[in-house]
Amino acid sequence: MTAYRSETSARAAPLPPPMPSMPHSPAPRSGGSDRGLAPEAAAVRLGRVVSVSGAQAVAVLDRPQSAAEGPRVEIGATLVVPTPYATVVGVVSAVSMPIPDLVTDQSNVHLIELNLAGEIVVDGRTARPVFRRGVSSLPSIGDIVYLADHQALTLAYSHPGSATIEVGTLYQNPKVPARLLVDELFGKHFLVVGTTGCGKSSALTCILQSVLPEYRFARIVVLDIHNEYADAFGGQAEIIDPSTLNLPFWLLNFQELTAAFTSADDNRETEIEILSDAVMWAKKRYSDSPAGRLRRPAEGQTITVDTPVPFRLSDMVAYIDEQLGRLDRTLATYSYKRLKARIETLVSDPRYSFMFGSLMIEDTMAQVLGRLFRVPVGDRPITVLKLAAVPGEILDVVISVVSRLAFDLAIWSEGRLPVLIVCEEAHRYAPAETSDRFLPTREALARIAKEGRKYGVSLALITQRPSELDPTILSQCSTAIAMRLSTARDQAVVRANTHEGALDLLDFLPLLGDREAVVLGQGVVMPMRIRFRDLNSNGVSQNGHTCFSQAWKHAEIDQQMLEGVVQRWRTPSRIKNSWM
Ligand SMILES: Nc1ncnc2c1ncn2[C@@H]1O[C@H](COP(=O)(O)OP(=O)(O)O)[C@@H](O)[C@H]1O
Ligand SMILES: [Mg+2]
Repeated sequence: MTAYRSETSARAAPLPPPMPSMPHSPAPRSGGSDRGLAPEAAAVRLGRVVSVSGAQAVAVLDRPQSAAEGPRVEIGATLVVPTPYATVVGVVSAVSMPIPDLVTDQSNVHLIELNLAGEIVVDGRTARPVFRRGVSSLPSIGDIVYLADHQALTLAYSHPGSATIEVGTLYQNPKVPARLLVDELFGKHFLVVGTTGCGKSSALTCILQSVLPEYRFARIVVLDIHNEYADAFGGQAEIIDPSTLNLPFWLLNFQELTAAFTSADDNRETEIEILSDAVMWAKKRYSDSPAGRLRRPAEGQTITVDTPVPFRLSDMVAYIDEQLGRLDRTLATYSYKRLKARIETLVSDPRYSFMFGSLMIEDTMAQVLGRLFRVPVGDRPITVLKLAAVPGEILDVVISVVSRLAFDLAIWSEGRLPVLIVCEEAHRYAPAETSDRFLPTREALARIAKEGRKYGVSLALITQRPSELDPTILSQCSTAIAMRLSTARDQAVVRANTHEGALDLLDFLPLLGDREAVVLGQGVVMPMRIRFRDLNSNGVSQNGHTCFSQAWKHAEIDQQMLEGVVQRWRTPSRIKNSWM
């Protein structure tokens, strides 16, 4: 064991001997070059490699970890191992002391396990050190391991040549910015997981705020179901709440219309049939009317129950009445009456006015899409849809319609309008459990997850319950921003979707502090442990985080205010913005 001990103190470690120039050595890769990066004079030497297998290496520390001074190695730390051809970069996945000898602490062997992730080589063309993924020149036994210094960290995590956004700093060295790759992150769906209150929404805010200064023509729709994001982007967000939302019912496809209008019992099939006829009849009526004639589809084009063209609910009701008039007073009238009653309920309910409330039926599809998906952007690349006050069942419809519209818009615009849909509490809309949820929402999200990247529609899924999220949707996320996660089941799901090389890094998810995350996958060049920057006053608002210690010290509400609450309760469309 003594043989592994450092000859010198770690901090006073001498520079490794200069590498001999190796004119005859085979180049490790085309375009690459020789030995990479010489550690700086202040490089902190940690120990020596004692085992390498696959992409894993084990090193023995020169100094025991319990020593008061000297370098500390934590899981997630980035280390470098100079080899004759390159400087290999790895991330610590485990630290251990296999044979503890607690009495004579000094003689203990301390092991660190490394995931080898990339290497720094001197670029043949520019003669500058560059980082690249993959390791062409594996370390060997006896190679010295150093804590990555500022220069190595900057090289490994700065990705020159790729579009990046800075979202915080590396945990290991707060002076080194943490950057995410824009195209990889936004182009291929990403996941933010972590227990409630660990900073998921804030992390997302950091990410979006970092996008705004550089990407004036970004296109982001936040499905803000806790009304947290409205103040986070200054004047750069188009804020839409239920009183200003306009999502006419005639934009719904037939599956969504069915979910909104029909009941879930045995009568469903009959109701669906009637609904289909009524919708087709109403669409025809509208297209024959003077307003409809102006926008009639071209010759040869057919209108189906799914085509998003205007029609009037009053025409649907007229159709149902006409059918009712023809029927005897038998059981057959029941489904018609129920459908009619449902239409009337939705029309008269103020909570649904953004969808069913407009008396004027006009072809406003381009305006509706333009506002929602920021075409033109008009200095507001983000749409924040404040949905906290929307009743659960209709929330499903809204999310379904918005996601489907995003997808259809992407297809029909041939991918020229790339859009990111941010879905908070994603497990609620795309649950693993198929039975009891609104199917169109799940399908719309699944379709984006599976096919969205082809057309430029991406998802940011935020959840504290990855184990309850639809596994197919989860498996389509190429980047995971894993924050503190304490339940074993949820951790297991994140693991199952993580590349093998980075698995060990997930072991310490339960221990991550607030604002901390491990970022894995394609949105980063190497797995990294980061700290999101402090949002100060520009963060998510505290909705959903009731402060008991404050509320229980002051009389917050009196009888008169309670009357106001009751009134708002009964007429939710008059809910003031401050409540949403
Ligand atoms: N990056 C950050 N900057 C400032 N405050 C933060 C940050 N991350 C988290 N917080 C604090 O933690 C609280 C909870 O964060 P939040 O993002 O709402 O967590 P989650 O979405 O995971 O429930 C926030 O209200 C804020 O006070
Ligand atoms: Mg949140």
